[in-house]
Amino acid sequence: MAAERWTPDSWRNKPIEQAPVYPDLAALGDVERQLAGFPPLVFAGEARKLKRALATVAAGESFLLQGGDCAESFAEHSADNIRDFFRVFLQMAVVLTFAGASPVVKVGRIAGQFAKPRTNPTEKINGVELPIYRGDIINDTEPTLAARTPDPSRQLEAYRQSAATLNLLRAFAYGGYANLDNAHRWMLGFVKDSPQSGRYQELADRITQTLDFMRAIGLDPEEHEQLSRTDFYTSHEALLLGFEQAMTRVDSTTGDHYATSGHMLWIGDRTRQFDHAHIEYCRGVRNPIGLKCGPSLKPDDLLRLIDILNPTNEPGRLTLITRFGADKVGDMLPALVRPVQREGKVVVWSCDPMHGNTISANGYKTRPFDRIMAEIRGFFDVHRAEGTHAGGVHLEMTGKNVTECTGGARAITVGELSDRYHTYCDPRLNAEQAIEVAFLIAEHLKSGRDRTRKKVEAAE
Ligand code: PEP
Ligand code: CO
Repeated sequence: MAAERWTPDSWRNKPIEQAPVYPDLAALGDVERQLAGFPPLVFAGEARKLKRALATVAAGESFLLQGGDCAESFAEHSADNIRDFFRVFLQMAVVLTFAGASPVVKVGRIAGQFAKPRTNPTEKINGVELPIYRGDIINDTEPTLAARTPDPSRQLEAYRQSAATLNLLRAFAYGGYANLDNAHRWMLGFVKDSPQSGRYQELADRITQTLDFMRAIGLDPEEHEQLSRTDFYTSHEALLLGFEQAMTRVDSTTGDHYATSGHMLWIGDRTRQFDHAHIEYCRGVRNPIGLKCGPSLKPDDLLRLIDILNPTNEPGRLTLITRFGADKVGDMLPALVRPVQREGKVVVWSCDPMHGNTISANGYKTRPFDRIMAEIRGFFDVHRAEGTHAGGVHLEMTGKNVTECTGGARAITVGELSDRYHTYCDPRLNAEQAIEVAFLIAEHLKSGRDRTRKKVEAAE
């Protein structure tokens, strides 16, 4: 069966989940027209470069680190927040690269992660039924009818904020801050006296020694851009399709359509129905695409989705982000990995250990650190047993010292959640917990490499 013709607006003819209801359609149309005339936030060539990097992950040669806020917010848009996030992200990447001996593809949930899928369309606050908060690009958290009514002008603000965030991230990535010589300096801030700081310090010392060694033998690290700058990409859930359509551009070099709102887009677990709008939009843009795979996804449906989203089996195009929960990963992940392998589909397997491990405690949504770690371990175990590459991790995290997930080396208790619970949506790992996760992953990557090396040596 020939695929139906795709256009940037063909999703509008399909059923859609999670779509906000805008009372003023004229105002919405106006905003979408404005956005369509704005400069792209990212370029097609950058999205292609990320796709090539992800192809190396699919081939088992590198690891994808993807993470950031569950939901970015307009109120917390500051240089400090962005720097703190970028810093902990770089620290994690260094842990994976150096302790895990693996190249790392860095993708933030940032500069566009503003729209949230929700379980219920409304909620009752003090006896009043209000539309649910759907992310800052759509409405406001304040519990009044006016604030909760979807407001199209927020899309312009989201565009402005994404552009400003991206501008700073590009400066950090290319302007010297990401220089490996700074590995010690990234420790400034509260993580310094944390339980992880000793391990990180040791690693930073080893990097310094390595750079000194390079200089001593006549290699100037400054001349190698791999050491002085880094490639950092952006991603978000492609949920608000009117916004995504408005930001879609034809790439002049290839004539293909690209989403220019971010380098990588993903499809949420609630909006992945194969004949619905979100799959329709995503199949036509050539960016790297992520697909969230939760417990309700049947293996046959996954194969069908893979055929729709990646009909040519292009490496790097599709990342399957599995999120089952620590108790289910051992049973459910093999059931997806096997058919994908059997059909020869090239994908990146990534683990989201957050969304299947959310519980409520003391009136807070939280995630026990042990369960997050257990799902990551389960993910590595399954891939090891199946002979596939555990390719990446997808985290909700912040550079700040928040108390949103319980546990970790500092053992945050349920009673402490109220101390610094700042998230606009789901509970995030704080900086210390994020680095602890990185060390766990590094151990798995390292032992995987050691096993491969032993096999090669034994065969020689
Ligand atoms: C998310 O990543 O914030 C999210 C809502 O995930 P999922 O679609 O997997 O539930
Ligand atoms: Co979330």
